[in-house]
Amino acid sequence: MQKKATKSLEDMFLDGLKDIYYAEKKILKTLPRMAKGAESEEVAAAFEKHREQTEEQVERLEQIFESMDKPARGKTCPAIDGIIEEGSEILSDYKDAPALDAGLVGAAQAVEHYEIARYGTLIAWAEQLGMKDALQLLRKTLQEEMETDEVLTKLGEQGVNERAMREAA
Ligand SMILES: [Fe+2]
Repeated sequence: MQKKATKSLEDMFLDGLKDIYYAEKKILKTLPRMAKGAESEEVAAAFEKHREQTEEQVERLEQIFESMDKPARGKTCPAIDGIIEEGSEILSDYKDAPALDAGLVGAAQAVEHYEIARYGTLIAWAEQLGMKDALQLLRKTLQEEMETDEVLTKLGEQGVNERAMREAA
């Protein structure tokens, strides 16, 4: 074990990579459950599309591990475990309720915002470390996460939230 005082930004980058690798794999497993649980087809389709993107995002991370000559290994990320746990609670607490999709969209946005924060930091560190290839891969994923977040915002605006109100009335 390296002494704490000698740990570098590269070590921190690698730790961050392991964190988001764990998170992406967990998200990959969770998205089909969320798609299956969603009431509306649009919400289910958005989750399914993001599941496909997430597969590629996992592969991009594996490429970065490889470029660093490190095994692709995740490190338990309690933050994403908690966010996903909350999403699971919505699935069971709001089953068949009109507000279910609004809750699922909100849970998915919490996931996206976590990822956006993490990828933003990894990009800053990759820049600092001069890791050009990693930078490109991370930016591509960040772009997808931001687009997904926007799609979710629109789904919310276009009726998921409204439906939750109307059908509850
Ligand atoms: Fe992701």
